[in-house]
Amino acid sequence: MDGNGRWAKARGLARTAGHTEGEENLARVVRAAVKHNVGWLTAFGFSTENWVRPRAEVRHILGLHEKLFGRVAELNELNVRIQWIGRPFDSPDARTPRYVQRAIRKAIADTATNTGMTLTVAFDYGSRAELAHAAQRIVTDNVPATVDALQQRLYLPNLPDVDVLVRTSGEMRISNFLLWQIAGCAVHFTDKAWPDFDEHELELALSLLRK
Ligand code: IPE
Ligand code: MG
Repeated sequence: MDGNGRWAKARGLARTAGHTEGEENLARVVRAAVKHNVGWLTAFGFSTENWVRPRAEVRHILGLHEKLFGRVAELNELNVRIQWIGRPFDSPDARTPRYVQRAIRKAIADTATNTGMTLTVAFDYGSRAELAHAAQRIVTDNVPATVDALQQRLYLPNLPDVDVLVRTSGEMRISNFLLWQIAGCAVHFTDKAWPDFDEHELELALSLLRK
């Protein structure tokens, strides 16, 4: 969900205002995705690399994730099941504060029986950390390093392969996001900053599925 900072700057607002609008926009995009029968939507909220940002900005983004995972009533109304992908809370490098952990656990439990779209939020997530973690588990389990063995040891083994990856804000590059899962996927690049990514943009991304 890139471009929150630039969106804010273009309007003479603080970066934090861009993050706030970005969180609101995810709620809008979730609604639009449900309307378009999307089965799985995964959003990159905060990466393993993002912790170096100014403390006040990190604190603001943490609060927004607490808010996001607090949208249980909305998710239930939409029959959306929420899950989280990221460094396990008990791993040595994990940095997710307890209040965000609690919000994540509660949202997962309170939407677990929903049967519609699965919304996965990546928080303290990095693809390289995920793959290193899976590789370490292969070593620990002392099993042959096959594609299936690695897939089964990802953070969320049941997360399907990605069909369409969206990259916002004019960035023509791939980040440290779902590198294993995006093999062969279509990519929708857009100049729109994340807060401006609307239903029409979602339709453009989904149109790549039919090509
Ligand atoms: C995305 O917006 C939000 C996070 C990475 C947490 P940015 O903060 O990267 O916005 P830009 O790239 O500075 O515009
Ligand atoms: Mg950025």
